[in-house]
Amino acid sequence: MEIIIKDNFDFVVEEIAKEIENLIKEKPNAVLGLPTGNTPLKMYSKLIEKGKKGEIDFSNVRTFNLDEYAEIKADDPSSFRYYMFQNFFNHINIKKENIHFPPSELKNIYENCKKYDKTIENLGGIDLMILGIGRNGHIGFNEPTSSLDSRTRVKTLTEETLKINNIKFEGVKYPDLAVTMGIKTILSSKRIILIAEGEGKAEAIKKTVEEPVGAMWPSSVLQMHEKVKIIIDEKAASKLKLKDYYKRIYSRKVYVDALLKEKN
Ligand code: F6R
Repeated sequence: MEIIIKDNFDFVVEEIAKEIENLIKEKPNAVLGLPTGNTPLKMYSKLIEKGKKGEIDFSNVRTFNLDEYAEIKADDPSSFRYYMFQNFFNHINIKKENIHFPPSELKNIYENCKKYDKTIENLGGIDLMILGIGRNGHIGFNEPTSSLDSRTRVKTLTEETLKINNIKFEGVKYPDLAVTMGIKTILSSKRIILIAEGEGKAEAIKKTVEEPVGAMWPSSVLQMHEKVKIIIDEKAASKLKLKDYYKRIYSRKVYVDALLKEKN
C-alpha cells in the first residue's frame, strides 16, 4: 500500500486527477471504476476542467460505476446514474455506450449482476478503480461483514449508511437495498486508488491501513492487493500510527525510484 498524505483535500484532488490523466494518456481506452458520494465531486469537476482544456480525451474511455440503489429510475435525482450524468458524464466527451452501471431492477438481478462482472472481464478488467470510503469502512456498498469473496450483488444497507446518505426516497419500495460491485470484483482491478477527506474518515482509514484484514472493516481487504494507493488529507490521516513514516516514504519516492532504476 502506498499512503499519500496531502495538506488539504485540494491537493488530493490534484493528485488523483493527474493519475487519471496519465493513465488515459498511456491507454486512451482505459477502463475506470467510479464512485459517487461527496468525496469525488471535486475530482469530477477537475476532470471536466481538464477535458475542456483538451488535457484529457474521454472519447474512448470506458467506465463502470460501483453501485446503484435497487429499483430506482435513472432520472430519479437520488439515483447514482443521475448523479454521474449531472456531475460528470454530461460535461465530457465520453460515449454513452462506454458507460456502465450495475443493474438496478431486481427482476433477473442474479443474471444481470453476473453479466455486469462478465462485461468488466470481457473488456480486460478495470485498469483503475477509484474508491471513496464509508465511515464504517464500506467500499462500494460492501457493508461490514460482506463476504471478502463477493461479486456484484444486492446488499442491504446498514442503519448508519441509510442515515449518513440521507436515504428516504419518495415512492421507492426498497430504499435500503442497493446493488454493488463485490469485494472480489473490486480486488480484480489492476490498480486501486482510495481517496478520503476529513476527520470523519480517520477511524476507517486507520482500520484500512493499520489493522487486521477482516469483514467488519471491508476496506481493510485492500491490504491484499498489490497496487493500492490511499490518497488522503491530513485530517483523514490523523489516526494513523505510522503517519510520519508514510510521509518519509513519499518524500523520498523520486529518489528511491531513480536509485532502483540505476541499480537494475
Ligand atoms: C458510492 C460508494 C460509497 C462511498 C462512501 C463514501 O458509490 O461507493 O462507498 O464512496 O459511502 O461516501 P462520501 O464520499 O459521500 O463520504
